[in-house]
Amino acid sequence: MSMNNLVGFAIAAVLAAIVAFPCAGALRKHPGVFYALAVAATALYVWALGTGEGPSAFRPLLVVMQKGYLACLFLGIVMFTGVLDEKSALRLRLQPIRGELSILSFIFIVGHLLTYLPGYLPRLGTLFSGNATIAVSLVVAVALTALFAVLAAMSLRVVRRSMNPRTWKAVQRASYVMMALLVLHVGLMLGMSAFGGGVTRSTWVFWVYVAVVVLYAVLRIRKACADRAAAKDA
Ligand code: HEM
Repeated sequence: MSMNNLVGFAIAAVLAAIVAFPCAGALRKHPGVFYALAVAATALYVWALGTGEGPSAFRPLLVVMQKGYLACLFLGIVMFTGVLDEKSALRLRLQPIRGELSILSFIFIVGHLLTYLPGYLPRLGTLFSGNATIAVSLVVAVALTALFAVLAAMSLRVVRRSMNPRTWKAVQRASYVMMALLVLHVGLMLGMSAFGGGVTRSTWVFWVYVAVVVLYAVLRIRKACADRAAAKDA
């Protein structure tokens, strides 16, 4: 991971923590303001992308958008909140803003999409005749994006209120599929080097994503078992 990426990740972590904690109340009351700021930041990023390199001090900020760090951190908060005990202080704090955080996460991933889509879309034509790895990578990326868009849209309060709560919860289970697609996407896009034996930057970045998602899966299964045992006792 280059210095820019590390600084970018640190900036994203601080921003995500500020939004999720000190700003939680404001986010709950005025989500539109936060969405508008996220859209404005994305527009600024796309503009900077179009105008080339820009000042070097600006690079870590671009990385925040390009690599989807902010989006992934918000997504991580939303997912890991789900494995916390319902009565824990952290769960009670984060639960009310999970929907808003997932919408913010989706807005921020748009910067990532706009970075890579222009390069990949023209290859759609060669999907069935060309390189199988590129074809699979693209299909996975598009499926991931579509699933993310649907789940984020369902987090909008108007959409959620108009749905049957049980159906809503059942469809949210697709987020587990999304986690699997995300790991597959990162593995495929970072060039399969993680499987090739040679250790490169991409290799260890891929394994970091794997480790986080495996940790999530273990905690989620543990919580499901604990919930089942508690339901039996009740
Ligand atoms: C059609 C849509 C998409 C395209 C074309 C695309 C393209 C790419 C490409 C080319 C890379 C490799 C970047 C590099 O070489 O450093 C990448 C990495 C990545 N993508 Fe996507 N992507 C798409 C959708 C998504 C979505 C929806 C998510 C999140 C939910 C996502 C999350 C990531 C992550 C986390 C990485 C690894 C970044 C890192 O190096 O740390 N992508 N993507």
